Amino acid sequence: MSGVARRTVVAAGGAGLAAALTACGGGTNAEGDTGTGGTDGAPEGPLAKTGDIPVGGGKVLAGKGIVITQPKAGEFKAFSSKCTHAGCAVSEVKDGTIVCPCHQSRFDISDGSVKGGPATASLPPEPIEVKGEDISFG
Ligand code: FES
Repeated sequence: MSGVARRTVVAAGGAGLAAALTACGGGTNAEGDTGTGGTDGAPEGPLAKTGDIPVGGGKVLAGKGIVITQPKAGEFKAFSSKCTHAGCAVSEVKDGTIVCPCHQSRFDISDGSVKGGPATASLPPEPIEVKGEDISFG
């Protein structure tokens, strides 16, 4: 009788171990989620293609908080798209300037300096890297 009882205890122990292993499986899933978080790094891929940026103009990438310009053919610059006047997002690149829609401050596409409007400080430059046709954060 006592032998049977001992086997029962062992079997129960085995079931407990299986439960513990299942719990570990859950831990692996949590790591998988972390991997998904790493996918958030994907936007660090190309911001734009060089062909998207007009010579003598530029493009505002609203979702990235950056404006990329091409003052001269093959010369790319990038600036923060946050206006230094009151923090609005600049909205367009026009006539060689980056324009803020809130109070019409304008910034030079070649160095971000103020060309007009109430802003008194230049748009801060953003580091970018051009590799082939891809423009990425530098
Ligand atoms: S916030 Fe840009 S001009 Fe005022």
